[in-house]
Formats: sequence, C-alpha cells, structure tokens
Amino acid sequence: MAEYQTFEHDVLIVGAGGAGLRAAVEASAAGVKVGVLSKSLLGKAHTVMAEGGMAAAMANVDDRDSWRVHFADTMRGGQYLNNPRMAELHAREAPDRVRELEAWGAIFDRTKDGKILQRNFGGHRYPRLAHVGDRTGLEMIRTLQDHGIHQGIDFHMEVTVLTLLKDADRIAGVLAYDRERGRFKIYRAKAVVLATGGIGRAYEITSNSWEYTGDGQALAYEAGAELLDMEFVQFHPTGMVWPPSVKGILVTEGVRGEGGVLRNNKGERFMFKDIPDNYKSSTADNEEEGWRYVTGDKSARRPPELLTRDHVARCIVREVREGRGSPHGGVFLDISWIKEKVSNAPEHIKKKLPSMYHQFKQLGDIDITSEAMEVGPTTHYVMGGVRVEGDSQMSCVPGLFAAGECAAGLHGANRLGGNSLSDLLVFGKRAGEFAAKYAKSNSMPKLDNSQVEAASRAAVAPFERTGEGPYHLQQELQKFMQKLVGIVRVETEMSEALDLIDGLKKRVPKVAVYGNREYNAGWHTYMDLPSLLTVSEAVTRAALLRKESRGGHFRDDFPDKSGEWAKYNIRIRKGADGSMDVEKVPVVPMTEEYKQIVEENK
Ligand code: FUM
Repeated sequence: MAEYQTFEHDVLIVGAGGAGLRAAVEASAAGVKVGVLSKSLLGKAHTVMAEGGMAAAMANVDDRDSWRVHFADTMRGGQYLNNPRMAELHAREAPDRVRELEAWGAIFDRTKDGKILQRNFGGHRYPRLAHVGDRTGLEMIRTLQDHGIHQGIDFHMEVTVLTLLKDADRIAGVLAYDRERGRFKIYRAKAVVLATGGIGRAYEITSNSWEYTGDGQALAYEAGAELLDMEFVQFHPTGMVWPPSVKGILVTEGVRGEGGVLRNNKGERFMFKDIPDNYKSSTADNEEEGWRYVTGDKSARRPPELLTRDHVARCIVREVREGRGSPHGGVFLDISWIKEKVSNAPEHIKKKLPSMYHQFKQLGDIDITSEAMEVGPTTHYVMGGVRVEGDSQMSCVPGLFAAGECAAGLHGANRLGGNSLSDLLVFGKRAGEFAAKYAKSNSMPKLDNSQVEAASRAAVAPFERTGEGPYHLQQELQKFMQKLVGIVRVETEMSEALDLIDGLKKRVPKVAVYGNREYNAGWHTYMDLPSLLTVSEAVTRAALLRKESRGGHFRDDFPDKSGEWAKYNIRIRKGADGSMDVEKVPVVPMTEEYKQIVEENK
C-alpha cells in the first residue's frame, strides 16, 4: 500500500458550520481528542446565510411564548411528519443554547430593558428569533470558532472526504484529500459526526455556496446509513433575481419580519389572496393589522408575508406565471414603504438590515431604503437527510452520527425559518456529546487498506482518460433538477429527470480531468459529481413515490394533502444490488402529551 499521511482522533467531525463546530466544542469538553475537517476555509460555512436569527422560545418580547408553543409551531410547519421527540428536544433546549452562545461572546441585539431581542419570522406564533441584525449566522460561527479554537481542537481546512471507512459494521474513519496539494489523507476515528450541510448545488438557483453538494448524505448512504424525507426541499421565497451573476443569493426573511411586503407588478399585496385555512385565524386579512403585528401589538394577527416558506414561494411562482411578475422574473419586496409609519425610516432599515442594505447597493445598485427589491424563490435547504436516533443523533451505522442540515427528522415536510440555527446548536451539541460517549466506550477500529486503495485509485482514474470534462455534467444536472424536480413537480417530468440522472451516471466513469492534482478545479468538480447524483436521485425517487402535496413537496398532479400519506416518511437506503431502495415507513407516533400540546395551540 502507498504511503498516506494518517491522523487519529477519538471523534472526527466532517463540516465546520454551526452543527460541526458545536459538536466539536461539546466532544472536546468531554475530554476526547477531536478533529474537524472543513471543505473550505474556516468561517465560510452556509450557516452564515441564515441571516435572520435563531428560534428559541425565550419569551423576551412576548411572554406568552414557551417551548410548548414552539413545539406546536414546528410540528405544524413540518405538517406532522417531524420526529416529535426531536421537535421537543429542540424547543426545550434552544433557549439554553442561545444563552450559552451569549456567554461565549455572541453580541445579540437587545430589547429596551437589555434582554436578547427577538423578531418575527414565518410560521412562528410569537417574535422568537434571537438575532444580530441580519448577520446572526455569521455571529454564531464567529463565536463558536473563537470558543472552539482555545479547546485544542485539531482543524484541517480545505479537505474533502472521499469515502467513509468501516471496520465490519462500525465506522472507522474517512479517506479524504487536501484540495491545495491534492494528497490523500487517512483520518482514523472511533466516531464520525457528519455536519456537511445541504444539497443546494444540485439546483441551478440556490442560496447555497459551492460546498453544498450533498456530501454527508451521500457518504452516509454509501456506508449503509438510511436517508429520510429527501423529497422535502425548501425553496426560500426570497432570493435575488437580478443581476444574473448573483441570482439565488438569499434575501433574509428578516426583511418581511421587519415589515417588508410583497407586491406584484400591479402593486397588489398578493399574499392576502391566498391564506390557507389552518392559518386563517392567525393571519391578518388587512394591511393595517399586519403592520400592527410587526410593531408588537399582541392583539394583532401576523401579515400574510410571514406564512410558511413553501406557501409564499408558490404564491410568487403563481404571480410570475400569470404575468404579474417583476421585470426580471420575480416579484417586488418593499421595506421602503415603512417611511409612512416610522420616523427616520432609512436609518431604521439600515440598522435592522445592514447586510441587505449593502448587498443590494453593491450587487444591484438598489437602495432598499427608497426602492423595492426584486426577489424570487431560491433553493435554500433540504429537510431530509441522514436518518438518526433523536436523542443521540447516531445513524444505523454504529459510530456514525449526523447533525444539522445533513440529518433528517426535526423539520418534517417544511422547516420554519430560524429553526435551522437553533437546530445546529441543539443537535450539534447532542451529536458531540454522544459521539464522545461512544468513543470513550469503544476502541480504535481496524483500518482496512483495501478500502483506502480502492477509493484513492477511483479518485485519480480521470487523470488517465481523455474526453469530456466534469463541468457539463454538473451544469446539466443543475438545470434539469431546477426544471423537472423544482417547486412544482409532476410525474412525467420527474421520470424524465430519473432517466437523465441515469444518463449522467453512465458518463461519470468516462469523464476526464486534465492538469495536475494541485488546486485542480476540474478534479474537485469531478469529485463532487457522485454525491450530487446520489442526492438528486434520492430527491427525485422520493418525490415520485409521495403522491400528494405537503410542505416543501408540491405535485401538480396530486395538489392536495392525503390522509394516507400523512402516516408515512420515505426512507432510502442502498440495496444489496447497489440500486436505491425507496420505501414508506410509519412516522414516529405522537404521545398523548404531544397531541395535547398541538391541540391546545391550534
Ligand atoms: O431568511 C433567512 O434569514 C433565513 C433563515 C433560515 O433559513 O433559517
């Protein structure tokens, strides 16, 4: 066997976003040796794109809030496909995780009496998002890094994992390569935590940065873990639509939380036209009441722009399709109108939404304090991911854990905005804690050299070939996933997507890469293809099987929710013959107590 640089850790974390860093902090505090692998540079995680805040029922702004209401909102948002135990843990533990972050140095916006300020967000009954302007994710990453760096955690930046190594059924570590020099590295570990984030780069229009190619989900699937709920992809209603070079970049829901309204090209607030029955009692049916809600009137109902993301995104698509869109194929999002209500509105907007102000000014030459933005849906988040046990976050592969976006369960069919940052903290901590426990009670697994050799041989194979490069394949995939398995889905189009995925899978083994292994962008793109194809196939197969519309999954050929499908999640695993097995499995049942909480918060 060739010489490989080899590292050993008790717990190895793959991913350095919020979940990975929080897991690393926890595992390290438990006294085990921790390594973190980051595909890009430390500090550059998609977590920073969760701008608007982290949801936690601290009741600082509205004392009616409690973990029970947060639990009920999360279950309703997820349309009851959530794992209720995870929803309970999340709602109960999020406030402590926020306070702990503050104790570690995060500087939150404050209420007048000095408490952590909380803002409105879609689907949350009360103002619940602890925030730092519109840079909350950034502050979270900064704080976790500052805290973690002093704990002796071993960070490896610009390292991509090629395969998970196993000792019989157990996880044994990973084989990775460093992107700078292109050298293979073995990381042996007793436990591995996957915290690699989402799959947005399988789509053409996305808020996700280049790293989000579904690595964790695909690595886990190949290693024998199960995936769950992959059909549920969240299209955030507001991404930039212009100029083309920045299409898809997130426009935080915080804009709507601060009073921003959506209008079509006729100037209509079209969200008033379509308020779902189960939200009618909590949603304002006139502009005045919606504004009163934004300003904190406890008797008012929230504006329809703060309905759940799936619903708002579909309403935008409808306006555009029916010819009422903005010049560049979106709709208008206007926060400047609040000058009618707020004195010194431009300063107020810049203070509340500093990043949005700069983003539009610098990228689009739009001054959001005086002009409306143009926005449209962007692929933002996948609710599905690695199926894990709710308390520990361990998958069905012993020693393999997953947390944050790459794990499934908490969000069901649709995630509420702000529940992602709190998810990362709550379940990142849990994954770190339980991975450390696992590592303490198990010895270092054996290394199987044949797994290392096979994976490294496959990785360098394209240098021996001539022919088409990897970029076309990546671009074709993104285009047809956007068109055929996007916001509105139908059977014929998804079947076509499966055929196209199959075609790409046959082309991958013929792809060629030119040049050498140092910082070779073509080679990096080639390495991303298998993960992108696995997660795209998983999304498409699950979406074909679920013959109803629910949350992030909308089928034009089955536009209603089905009572029968309400009973099932969809599980995906690798079959013995290498094909993808997709089947429905019963949802985790709600206890009587959970049912009562949901009932009392209807
Ligand atoms: O709109 C936003 O700021 C995104 C937040 C989230 O996805 O949680």
